[in-house]
Amino acid sequence: MDKAEDSILSREQFGTDFLWGVSTAAFQIEGAHDADGKGLSIWDVFSARKGKIKNGHHALDACDFYNCYKDDIQLLRQLNIPNFRFSISWSRVMPTGVLPVNEAGIRYYNKIIDFLLECGIEPWVTLYHWDLPHALEVKGGWTNRECVSWFSEYTAVCAKHFGDRVKNWIIVNEPSVFTGAGYFLGVHAPGRRGITNYIKAMHHVTLATAAGGKVVRNTVANANIGTTFSCTHIEPYSQKPKDIRAAKRVDTLLNRTFIEPILGLGYPQEDLKVLKRLDRYIIGDDRKHLAFDFDFIGLQCYTREVVKYSLITPYIGASLVPAKKRGKPFTTMGWEVYPEAIYHILKKFSGYKGMPKILITENGASFADTVIDGKVNDKERTQYLQEHLQQILKAKKEGCNVEGYFVWSLTDNFEWAEGYNARFGLIHVDFDTQQRIIKDSGLWFGKFLDPTI
Ligand code: BGC
Repeated sequence: MDKAEDSILSREQFGTDFLWGVSTAAFQIEGAHDADGKGLSIWDVFSARKGKIKNGHHALDACDFYNCYKDDIQLLRQLNIPNFRFSISWSRVMPTGVLPVNEAGIRYYNKIIDFLLECGIEPWVTLYHWDLPHALEVKGGWTNRECVSWFSEYTAVCAKHFGDRVKNWIIVNEPSVFTGAGYFLGVHAPGRRGITNYIKAMHHVTLATAAGGKVVRNTVANANIGTTFSCTHIEPYSQKPKDIRAAKRVDTLLNRTFIEPILGLGYPQEDLKVLKRLDRYIIGDDRKHLAFDFDFIGLQCYTREVVKYSLITPYIGASLVPAKKRGKPFTTMGWEVYPEAIYHILKKFSGYKGMPKILITENGASFADTVIDGKVNDKERTQYLQEHLQQILKAKKEGCNVEGYFVWSLTDNFEWAEGYNARFGLIHVDFDTQQRIIKDSGLWFGKFLDPTI
């Protein structure tokens, strides 16, 4: 195949079974922060704290998906998107994190699921996308070992109420990000810091991921169960041995620490000394309960990081060299645009023994979009998506078992500590009026999915 031919992308090239979709998360889109008996989540509390979110933004209304869900699902249909990933807000269905259930919360998700199915769109439910009920955080949150049973109970509630119609389940979203940013660095909810909080949260989240998988397996007939990991292609800044070793440590922390125990390989404690501290919290036959036989693994890859040895960074002895400093193109998140990253990640993760099929459950980019004459001509985003798809196709042709691609995200939304400054949507949102405009990237994706329309 010559180069020109190779660069024309079509849906068929990926095969008829390849899954196409978009991903979202409850706290980032729903708004309705206190509607119908919802309890507070750690993100409600964190984003109300001064200085935590850029420009003092909050998600009290976000995209108002709580009220606009029908319109947004119609837009999905208009764009020919067959799979929709959304998360359940734990504190909406269980306001204090534990029983009793808030029936209004259950009704709300039932309405979404039913409407998706009515529109011929397959629901993909994420059980935990970072919004722990605040009442549980007061009891220690993920640093409290009991969180494993709280999460199992919540999972059982969701599986029981939604499992007759939802077959695709994602247990946890990106454990390394919410434990790292939320319990070690304090820049995400719940805003706690320190190595002890982090290590405890890491172990409890891993146990909860496997436990949640088992609950869904035992409750939902024919369930397709996965969980997602954030993964970043890591390269050393130079070929100096100390940079190479630093890159290996960062790779261990970001890419291996959470997936390896799930795959039955245990924590990679030999390659990152600080992980030895996990031994303090691994009790009884915990090691036997870290693994679960998932049907798929969701990988979420946005960029690569270039790593340098650093004497002053505790525990990891490494620092990241930002794209800007390296003179490389980057998004409004400061993340390098480097499509080959997703190829390397697919090759790396496919190499694990016992790796089930892989879905790319998130990929996308934030750029400074502008609305001109009612249109958003976001060329850079379209190009970003196309180039990433080319790399996925290349990996697939070389034998990687990748079977799906979900764009992050359907609409612009509340981008955590960045507030509304970082726009990732295929659809533009005016946060004052809640007006939606399909961006050119969205139009492109819709046409890519069904060229006949
Ligand atoms: C998360 C999303 C987030 C996206 C872009 C992922 O880390 O799952 O919630 O909005 O990346 O930052």
